Amino acid sequence: MSYSIAIDGPAGAGKSTVAREAARRLGCVYVDTGAMYRAMALYTLRCGIDAEDGAAVCAKCREADIEIRYENGEQVVYLNGENVNGLIRTEAVGNRTSRVAVYPDVRRKMVELQQKIARNSDVVMDGRDIGTCVLPDATVKIYLTASSAVRAKRRCEELRQKGEDCDLASIEADIIQRDRQDMTREVSPLVRAADAVLVDSSDMDIEQVTEAVIALCRQKGCL
Ligand code: DC
Repeated sequence: MSYSIAIDGPAGAGKSTVAREAARRLGCVYVDTGAMYRAMALYTLRCGIDAEDGAAVCAKCREADIEIRYENGEQVVYLNGENVNGLIRTEAVGNRTSRVAVYPDVRRKMVELQQKIARNSDVVMDGRDIGTCVLPDATVKIYLTASSAVRAKRRCEELRQKGEDCDLASIEADIIQRDRQDMTREVSPLVRAADAVLVDSSDMDIEQVTEAVIALCRQKGCL
């Protein structure tokens, strides 16, 4: 049986960690769709384009060749032939990404790429619009969330582990701003699909969330 698992939710809810681990246990491909939008945002940043200039962003979007490859079991994003994995995780790129992701041309291009990957393999795919737009017939849909305070704390810990400085209050303010941007945009906003299972990870650790996801996959016959 072929299947697809959609995991949506706001930034910092633990989607990517859980999705990667669930894919490993299921033995299928993990697709981090945020990384694709991040690569697109990086391109506009490099081109010196104002993120609010929709016409310019969409024109540049046509020039950006974004490709996903799997190397040693990890997803690698290529932007016009360059591996940009090490460049797309900064706060500057993250904040720009939610602004660039509002444009229909940008979303259309990414959604086509994501649907193509899911046609060719069983996937665990995480993002904002996977259950609602990219894979409306996904076998399992999960909406993973957590309070903004918990998400900011997790993000700060992640940054500190990387040796970066961080200010908890400004990280939480950025998270709230990004939620607002993602939830209120006109095209495919972040919203829980009617048939998605809500998982609030505020008081759960990664293992508990992963187990909950795997249990749902088992119920649906993916394992
Ligand atoms: O998951 P992430 O933090 O890497 O995503 C970065 C931004 O990309 C996020 O603010 C919203 C956007 N995004 C989106 O609009 N649709 C997706 N499927 C994935 C990410």
